[in-house]
Amino acid sequence: MGEVSDDPYRIHHLYDLEYAAHDEDIDWYVDRARAARGPVLELGCGTGRLTLPIARAGVSVLGVDRAPDMLAGLSTKLQHGPAAVRQRVRIQQADYTDLSIDGRFAGVLWPFNALHHCTGPAQVASMLDRITGWLAPGARLSLDCYLPDRTLYDRDPAQRFEFRTFVDPRSGETLTSWEQGWWDEAAMTHHVQYVYEHLGGRQERTRLALRMYELPTLRALLADAGFALLREAQDFEGTPLGPRPLKWVAVALPR
Ligand SMILES: C[S@@+](CC[C@H](N)C(=O)[O-])C[C@H]1O[C@@H](n2cnc3c(N)ncnc32)[C@H](O)[C@@H]1O
Repeated sequence: MGEVSDDPYRIHHLYDLEYAAHDEDIDWYVDRARAARGPVLELGCGTGRLTLPIARAGVSVLGVDRAPDMLAGLSTKLQHGPAAVRQRVRIQQADYTDLSIDGRFAGVLWPFNALHHCTGPAQVASMLDRITGWLAPGARLSLDCYLPDRTLYDRDPAQRFEFRTFVDPRSGETLTSWEQGWWDEAAMTHHVQYVYEHLGGRQERTRLALRMYELPTLRALLADAGFALLREAQDFEGTPLGPRPLKWVAVALPR
């Protein structure tokens, strides 16, 4: 009936279709990168949705990602773009939870919910230790992630949401897509399945398992890793955290 992959980053074309219109965070990360006044490290750069605007803004960036197909997508975009942008981007295929990088950066960006791929608080803590070692003195970590949204998790797992229609650049075919989700409270994990249906009914499906963290846990993890929280907001406009924020956008500095 269809292809299922647990790896949502196996087909960069589908990722790019999925997030083609997602741009609410771009200016914020470009500003963070510019403010760093030096080369930045982007953890989980993917197909370069943020990497490319950062490089276009004149900032040198090392993009690390473990997904070869996502990096292939980024490389293709770089090859077809201006040489000046290409020269500012270095790409490294690696699992950043197990990565040694020589040198330090003027800023580390850990964007677009990549933190939810960490298996739990211990792995986030270990990442924060690594990030401390990648930051030059005075340099900052900028990140964003979701906060648990129990109204979303009450949904029927069989119900389909976020219907969209895309033209698949690989074939020119029209694809219909939707997502479904279910929540594992014990594991604090939101499972999301993305389904892409071709005209003949063939489906490609990918699944994400997003480990969620409560806000106090995230703050405590940062504090325990020796970071001072410089800014936090519930969106990229800087709106102060309300009573039930669904997003955490933060900037932190090692003490
Ligand atoms: C939500 S995507 C974000 C991609 C890109 N930064 C963007 O904003 O579109 C998360 C990315 O993090 C990468 N990633 C997740 N865990 C990783 C790890 N442990 N090591 C390296 N890359 C990882 C995934 O392969 C994926 O490309």
